[in-house]
Amino acid sequence: MTISASAIARTYELDGVSVPALRGVSLTIDAGDYVAIVGPSGSGKSTLMHLLGALDRPTSGQLVIGGRDVASLSPPEMARLRNETIGFVFQSFHLLPRTSAVDNVALPLVYRGLGARQRRARAAAMLERVGLGHRLQHRPNQLSGGEQQRVAIARALVTDPEVLLADEPTGNLDTVTGAAVLALLEELNAESQVALVLVTHDRDVAARAHRQIVMRDGVIV
Ligand SMILES: Nc1ncnc2c1ncn2[C@@H]1O[C@H](COP(=O)(O)OP(=O)(O)OP(=O)(O)O)[C@@H](O)[C@H]1O
Ligand SMILES: [Mg+2]
Repeated sequence: MTISASAIARTYELDGVSVPALRGVSLTIDAGDYVAIVGPSGSGKSTLMHLLGALDRPTSGQLVIGGRDVASLSPPEMARLRNETIGFVFQSFHLLPRTSAVDNVALPLVYRGLGARQRRARAAAMLERVGLGHRLQHRPNQLSGGEQQRVAIARALVTDPEVLLADEPTGNLDTVTGAAVLALLEELNAESQVALVLVTHDRDVAARAHRQIVMRDGVIV
């Protein structure tokens, strides 16, 4: 699957003030790509990721995801496109607070027509792969920050996405756990052509990507 952005911009309206977070970005993500997005805080990285993940629409410019122009999609169509093709790891995780780790990870599979038992089994297997097989029944507030991050990564991967968009996926992980998570993502990239787009403040992580995109003040520099 290809994601193609042409001069996309995103302006937030906040209390009557326009905040131009993204000011014309063009880029293409193809199957098998491995891209790191870097840049200072507030430069528009998360805004760009939300657009690439069909979580939001550009204010102007054209965004085509898997051959479909997001401007032509209704909200349910965007939700379906996301569920079928995209895994998204939010900078702030967005886990359901009163729900166990295994049920958080199983949630995106509800739309796949799998029974509860199968969903749990797949979720448990994915949590195993991120090193959390011993924490299936813990709720997010019973998990460390790094463990919550790995639950969020498992939830993004459980649907076998074609593209994984991850906003600071190793930001809360120690060196060893971060390297293990990155190795898992790189294995999926190399063996299954899952496109990886990672936002990171870590130079070593960015250097592993095949391509680096540097953002500043809402544009690619
Ligand atoms: N919902 C919103 N409403 C208004 N302004 C917003 C909103 N979301 C982001 N912004 C502003 O848009 C700019 C870009 O924000 P964004 O979250 O994309 O930055 P970032 O590069 O991800 O930063 P960080 O490295 O701190 O995560 C910032 O100035 C931010 O304050
Ligand atoms: Mg951000």
